[in-house]
Amino acid sequence: MKDFIRVETQHAVQFLKDGAVAGMEQEVRCAHEALENGTSEGADFLGWLHLPTSITPEFVADVKATAQTMRELCDVIVVAGIGGSYLGARAVIEALKNQFVELTPRILFAGNNISEDYLAELQDYLADKRFGIINISKSGTTTETALAFRLLRAQCEAQRGKDEARRVIVAITDAVKGAARTTADKEGYKSYVIPDNVGGRFSVLTPVGLLPIACAGMDIEALVEGAQEMEHLLRTAPMAENPAYQYAAVRNLLYRGGKKVEILANFQPKLHFIAEWWKQLYGESEGKNHLGIFPASVDLTTDLHSMGQWIQDGERSIFETVISIEQPEREVRVPSDEENLDGLNFLAGRRVDEVNKMAELGTQLAHVDGGVPCLRIVLPRLTERYIGQLLYFFELGCGISGNVLGVNPFNQPGVESYKRNMFALLNKPGYEAESQAIRERLGR
Ligand code: PA5
Repeated sequence: MKDFIRVETQHAVQFLKDGAVAGMEQEVRCAHEALENGTSEGADFLGWLHLPTSITPEFVADVKATAQTMRELCDVIVVAGIGGSYLGARAVIEALKNQFVELTPRILFAGNNISEDYLAELQDYLADKRFGIINISKSGTTTETALAFRLLRAQCEAQRGKDEARRVIVAITDAVKGAARTTADKEGYKSYVIPDNVGGRFSVLTPVGLLPIACAGMDIEALVEGAQEMEHLLRTAPMAENPAYQYAAVRNLLYRGGKKVEILANFQPKLHFIAEWWKQLYGESEGKNHLGIFPASVDLTTDLHSMGQWIQDGERSIFETVISIEQPEREVRVPSDEENLDGLNFLAGRRVDEVNKMAELGTQLAHVDGGVPCLRIVLPRLTERYIGQLLYFFELGCGISGNVLGVNPFNQPGVESYKRNMFALLNKPGYEAESQAIRERLGR
């Protein structure tokens, strides 16, 4: 019998009417069937649904071989990408790496902002390094990523020569469209295709996530295996044994009851970027037609000393979902101290994780007492396999939730608005009418 991550809902269900979750079974099942049958909105973007089980050993071997070449030829690998083209890789790498030891090669991220200082400092840092680039963009035209790649590519070619640079630049993009594809084909870069039917925020298990994660030396086979196990489980498990159904049902019921904000909380700093990935997945999928739970996150216990007051006592429009790691990878016990000046001898000999777990339980009980429904997602350990399970669980939970909410979870039309204004303000060719309108609006 395989072990799985699990969802505990009792401290959220107590805020709902008796039988409410069971009453959602039909709705949740229909939402899932609509995904499976391709009958809901956004059916062109369902490539993620059976993606884990479609990954072949040959494909994983190819990704690992590319990663190995990059690892041999580079001291630093810069992953250029934004949103779904970067957050998944960063989330997995940060969750698994030692927090105080730099990886060899070091993995850096760029193309996810337009800060001049960020880029200048990155250029300085890379000036004496053997670095390579993984350029990730499904559209191949995203400004943040394209701008960073233009600078990084020029620097890489200047430092290593064009021929050597070609060996350490990899493109992950559309099969035919976009500037990233044109450049990759013209320059002869090794490249991978992001399938048409997999949207950015659902692409962590394509080369978008797998190549950077493999470059970081992590076990992508175990990650994929975990996702495959979860795909199998969720496809057929009944409501009571289906964590994605439970999660989708409870969060939608809470939303209908006025809980408009979901706070994803962790008690492990390593999980910070898992929350960033989750926020994009749920925020960009559900926030449409003036609907949708606002996804927020906190790192605990750190943020109990900054946001704790608000969560305990602020407007009661929130619920909390805690990601908890059952078994830490390392063991640290509190030492005994003869003088006991700090008064901590009551903890002597006990594990730090016990203190953390009691802080977690104490926080959950306090928040429930304060009127905050709490869900808990438990990972037996923080390993590739359970992270693989978690990623797919959140993806399916998101697809089902979006359908239950009645929005198309797979588009992001709202993201275009800032781009149109930015291009108009920068006088991009083709935006003349918008430029004129915006100048009039701003009185320039
Ligand atoms: O989920 C999405 O589709 C987006 O967040 C994209 O990943 C993001 O905008 C980056 O787009 P692209 O990969 O085309 O550069």
